[in-house]
Amino acid sequence: MPRPSVIETGELQVILDDIADRVAGMSERGKVAQYIPELASVDLNQFGIAVAPIDGAPVSAGNANTLFSIQSISKVFSLTEALQHVGATLWQRVGREPSGDPFNSIVQLEHERGIPRNPFINPGAIVVADVLLEDRSSDEAVNDVLNLCRTLAEDASIQVDKAVADSEMRTGSRNRALAHFMKAEGNLKAPVEDVLSLYFRQCSIAMSCRQLAVAGRYLAAAGQNPADASTVLSAQRARRVTALMMMCGSYDASGEFAFRVGLPAKSGVGGGILCIVPGIAAVTAWSPGLDAKGNSHLASIAFQELVRATGWSVFGPSV
Ligand code: DON
Repeated sequence: MPRPSVIETGELQVILDDIADRVAGMSERGKVAQYIPELASVDLNQFGIAVAPIDGAPVSAGNANTLFSIQSISKVFSLTEALQHVGATLWQRVGREPSGDPFNSIVQLEHERGIPRNPFINPGAIVVADVLLEDRSSDEAVNDVLNLCRTLAEDASIQVDKAVADSEMRTGSRNRALAHFMKAEGNLKAPVEDVLSLYFRQCSIAMSCRQLAVAGRYLAAAGQNPADASTVLSAQRARRVTALMMMCGSYDASGEFAFRVGLPAKSGVGGGILCIVPGIAAVTAWSPGLDAKGNSHLASIAFQELVRATGWSVFGPSV
């Protein structure tokens, strides 16, 4: 099978401009997430896309420098940290299978005795947050996740959006139910409110397409941060994180995303999608309107267009 190939900056810019132009004219834009009040007021008419090659400067189009709530995309960075801290023992507490259920589903968790299917659904990320609290307070752990994002994005200005975090803290009854159930089953060690304080704040980190694409490059570069060749994760672990993104990163639409796009992806209800093109680049597209499964409607279309134009699907180029 032919491998994805590098595309020269000028050509990439033309492709991204063309995608941004095309989505700007689309009238169906999805709906902003309603269940987090602070996200419900985000302007639907925004779209950005940024490609961060592992060995070149980022290329972008549209609102690529606008900050948005990274939400579940933060689960990639918290998983990375948990693997750095506890390695493979993490997998005793969280699985590695797609759930086929919505990201906040309760029913599966009861059947499976409080062991979440994977680290990218809400209960899985809540367990990962608990792992990060084994030797730290939630304030320290939030700072660690933030600092990982800042280092990888090469941007010290990245912050938690406090209004979004407060909004989630006030309205997160469903996540509280998931956390208390796992506590009852013995799969949560720290107090529920400490774990949720970390989880809600990591989800509320605000980043732009450009920052997120740069931050995701280590997963395209066998676990090494291309900025300084430091090892973020071993090559094997980076490969496994991207495998989980392919199988579980778009919730119960992961199969559909693999079918249409063919790239490991992690999406968030803020409307962002981070995709990894192994050996080539990390890419983020963002538009706040979501489809029925909670994935950005226009960002999903943008990725379909991108792989059509670049041949970057890991399953081979479009013909
Ligand atoms: O906990 C929540 O529901 C949100 N903070 C994150 C949801 C999201 O982005 C999709 N989750 N996998």
